Amino acid sequence: MTVLDIDGIDTYYGNSHVLHDVSLTLAEGEVVALLGRNGAGKTTTMRSIMGVTPPRRGEITYRGEDIVGKAPNEINERGINLVPEDRRVFPTLTVHENIVLAHKLAADPRPVEEMYELFPVLDGLRRSNAQNLSGGEQQMLAVARALVQRPSLLLLDEPTEGLAPVIVDDLRTMLQDVVEQDVTVLLSEQNVTFAFDLATRGYVIDTGSIVFEGSIEEIREREDLLEQYLAVSPEEVA
Ligand SMILES: Nc1ncnc2c1ncn2[C@@H]1O[C@H](COP(=O)(O)OP(=O)(O)O)[C@@H](O)[C@H]1O
Ligand SMILES: [Mg+2]
Repeated sequence: MTVLDIDGIDTYYGNSHVLHDVSLTLAEGEVVALLGRNGAGKTTTMRSIMGVTPPRRGEITYRGEDIVGKAPNEINERGINLVPEDRRVFPTLTVHENIVLAHKLAADPRPVEEMYELFPVLDGLRRSNAQNLSGGEQQMLAVARALVQRPSLLLLDEPTEGLAPVIVDDLRTMLQDVVEQDVTVLLSEQNVTFAFDLATRGYVIDTGSIVFEGSIEEIREREDLLEQYLAVSPEEVA
């Protein structure tokens, strides 16, 4: 079953035309990567889905329903959760308070304790203020806040941005557990190897247009794509 079907969207910031005829689909349970360099249009795609920057042309259908023009909270209520690239958490609340607050706002949340099982790092930090967490810990908290709401579609916008390599490894391990669960994921990344480890299919975006769509295996073998659009050498992703 198709969870999300983006069909030929064009998105603008004022007069600036950023997304050009972007199409993308996600089937139930899939983890799909949206790969591209800085400024390629990954965040704008996420914002288009969430209704923050709705497209001016094209369609976005979520489980059969047209969601273009709906407010972000209405889209969220339908089961789509975005973890934005700036990992919004409440800085002066504790880790536990942050998760409980997200839990309270959801219609059919998962138990809070399940989040600590998924992210053991957070278990030891329950009483710490979110502002005192490292970047990686904040990222885990942001994902936990989204997951506790039992999303049916999880949008992860560049979760590895700004994280040290060792932290990226931890995050990868934890997200591997998350994606094995009952959730469909769209993962935007510049970190190609990270995305390759989690996704089965991918889209390559450049200057607001999808330039390639295929399995991760296909992308891995396309030296030209890797070098031209993703700034990695084939050896780095072999
Ligand atoms: N609020 C904004 N106003 C105008 N232009 C923007 C805004 N946000 C992003 N852009 C432009 O849109 C393009 C795509 O940006 P973005 O979607 O953030 O890319 P990515 O997430 O892939 O780095 C870039 O050229 C960027 O400069
Ligand atoms: Mg971005």
